Amino acid sequence: MTSLLFTPYECRGLTLKNRIGVAPMCQYSAQNGLPNMWHTVHLGSRAVGGAGLVFVEAAAVAENGRISPADIGIWNSEQEAAFAPIAAFMKSQGAAPGIQLAHAGRKGSTQVPWEGRKAVPVEDGGWIPPGPTDVPFNDTYAKPEEMSEADIDRVIHDFVEAAHRSRRAGFEVLELHMGHGYLLHQFLSPLSNHRDDHYGGSFENRTRFALQLAEAVRAVWPDELPLFVRLSVTDWLPDAWDVPQSVELAKAFSKIGVDLVDCSSGSVVPESRVEQTPGYQVPLSAAVRRDAGVPTAAVGKITEARQAEAILQAGDADLIFLARAMLADPYWPLRAQQELEGRAKWPVQYQRAVDPNAPS
Ligand SMILES: Cc1cc2nc3c(=O)[nH]c(=O)nc-3n(C[C@H](O)[C@H](O)[C@H](O)COP(=O)(O)O)c2cc1C
Repeated sequence: MTSLLFTPYECRGLTLKNRIGVAPMCQYSAQNGLPNMWHTVHLGSRAVGGAGLVFVEAAAVAENGRISPADIGIWNSEQEAAFAPIAAFMKSQGAAPGIQLAHAGRKGSTQVPWEGRKAVPVEDGGWIPPGPTDVPFNDTYAKPEEMSEADIDRVIHDFVEAAHRSRRAGFEVLELHMGHGYLLHQFLSPLSNHRDDHYGGSFENRTRFALQLAEAVRAVWPDELPLFVRLSVTDWLPDAWDVPQSVELAKAFSKIGVDLVDCSSGSVVPESRVEQTPGYQVPLSAAVRRDAGVPTAAVGKITEARQAEAILQAGDADLIFLARAMLADPYWPLRAQQELEGRAKWPVQYQRAVDPNAPS
């Protein structure tokens, strides 16, 4: 039996061997934004584990776009060179190598989560983060500096440069991080964007930065390769960013050549959160896919093979992204295929783990 989850997915000139993506996951394990052995093994294992697409975590497009000083970055050529063998290895294992480009904005210059996420002062290696205004995320975060229009242009330029570097490093899918309360989401949401210039106020103004940025990146990212955007589709609060606005923005993205919207939610202000029940964000993906008519990825507490298959069968998403389930088990895709189809092609080196008759 063939499942939808293991039916290849075509997007522009790229074919994913299945519809499972490893969602971007910060490892907070880099120095100077450079990937190292941890990232090589972490990403490499997940490619070996059978996912069709593996995303590198939120990679900062500028030094002051990191969340923490331990974030990965792709703002210089040393980082580009360090990513190249990782992307090549992922591809050699049949996974499309993807990278999420990100700017943390006012959520930057924080400690890594296991140290408490408090602001890192400038004298300890932190920085003054840019934001739509000078209002911090909360009183433990750094006070940002309000961005000028020149600063906005600079960030667009940084994303474009990072796209060039990503391509030269061998990545085949780009995802622009516009969710989770990071810089682009800070401009989208009326909860964090209180500007009175033409980047604040109306829907048109709040989405201007996101659209300009996506258009600029699409112009330099190869036509034959996919460009995705991750949105927080709703802030889960009144008078905030919500599903209808995401649908309108997704339509506009589609017109400028964004290929898929990765549907997440929340995190633009501390209260913007929801209980994480199984598949809690699937209805967001379903709404964007149905109402905007654009391909989507569903993500969030998807942990079971049959659950993933049912989401695709219902037409609620085109791709399934997994994060924590993939941390727990890099071989999740191989096990899922075994469960759904009664077969799975483990790497030859590992066949003795699953086949007692494999040559010894
Ligand atoms: C360790 C960890 C790091 C994460 N880092 C990122 C990130 O870099 N970029 C991003 O968009 N989401 C990030 N997320 C969110 C995940 O991509 C995903 O959307 C979320 O965990 C829900 O999916 P799950 O229930 O399968 O874990 C991270 C999640 C985890 C657990």
